[in-house]
Amino acid sequence: ADQARQADFDAKVAANQRIEPRDWMPEGYRKTLVRQVAQHAHSEIIGMQPEGDWIASAPSLRRKAILLAKVQDEAGHGLYLYAAAETLGIDRAELTERLIEGRQKYSSIFNYPSLTYADVGVIGWLVDGAAICNQVPLCRTSFGPYARAMVRICKEESFHQRQGYELLMRMMEGTEGQRAMVQDAVDRWWWPSLMMFGPPDADSPNTQQSLEWGIKIDTNDALRQKFVDMTVPQADKLGVTLPDSELAWNEQSGQYDFGEPDWNEFKQVVTGSGPRNAERVARRRAAHEKGAWVREAATAYAKKHQNSQEVA
Ligand code: ACO
Repeated sequence: ADQARQADFDAKVAANQRIEPRDWMPEGYRKTLVRQVAQHAHSEIIGMQPEGDWIASAPSLRRKAILLAKVQDEAGHGLYLYAAAETLGIDRAELTERLIEGRQKYSSIFNYPSLTYADVGVIGWLVDGAAICNQVPLCRTSFGPYARAMVRICKEESFHQRQGYELLMRMMEGTEGQRAMVQDAVDRWWWPSLMMFGPPDADSPNTQQSLEWGIKIDTNDALRQKFVDMTVPQADKLGVTLPDSELAWNEQSGQYDFGEPDWNEFKQVVTGSGPRNAERVARRRAAHEKGAWVREAATAYAKKHQNSQEVA
């Protein structure tokens, strides 16, 4: 019977049909999805912090309204993704525990500090730009709930990316000091943005199997290349320099050649020793603990009204 179910699963994946929560799936497929979707959800939630730091000191009411909306969107993305993970049979409370105990990862990028308001623009342009590059193909990932969450998330990420680019365009029209601030932010975020796509294909233990299962659509290196090709003309138009002396158009390949990110730094950040890892997780843990009374009250309320039609 297992063989028949496996054959059915393989046929669906090969035909680009979606696997739905009630369908049979190999245990490894389920585990890989829980890992990736949870990591993705955690990234959205932790990702609220570097930009959230600037809400109180946004330079104008307009910038504050945009930033507030953007950070709220990230919370929403986290919730869609936790909901997608729950369809795989794992509880969101359990995933949060794994995050605050450091047992599950989130994207390396959010362990870097946001030092000036230009960072808000650069996070939108480069970090959300990289996220879109990675996530648009995931709209076709083989697990239905994850694919559908991605469709909504990508629409919002496109807005985020444009608001970042617009902010930077405005700053580049400003003073010398503002232009220098933008360049400094680009210098700090460029390499970490390239690291978002994960280790080089040769050092990526999960890629091959995830491609076979239709969980991943492209390899890490293919997406990184796509991001570089998409971003270089945008940098030119903006008037900033990307901090890579090896960056050059390659006539033969029809792509940009570029330098190698510092993979030792990547390893350090992923294993918890990045510039802001401890602070990000501590803050998430504190917010979770402070929210305990809300969860308790909601649970008590639901229990009390379980069997009644009463409306409050
Ligand atoms: N930050 C932290 N950990 C990473 C990163 C990263 N940038 N890239 C890879 N890793 C981890 C993987 O999770 C994996 O760890 P694990 O096996 O212990 O779980 C390990 O490094 C090896 O990497 P891969 O074998 O390449 O892992 P995978 O096939 O999962 O590919 C990738 C990594 C590309 C990030 C994939 O999981 C993915 O596409 N995820 C969905 C997108 C996502 O999570 N985006 C979050 C940031 S964007 C945003 O939130 C705005």
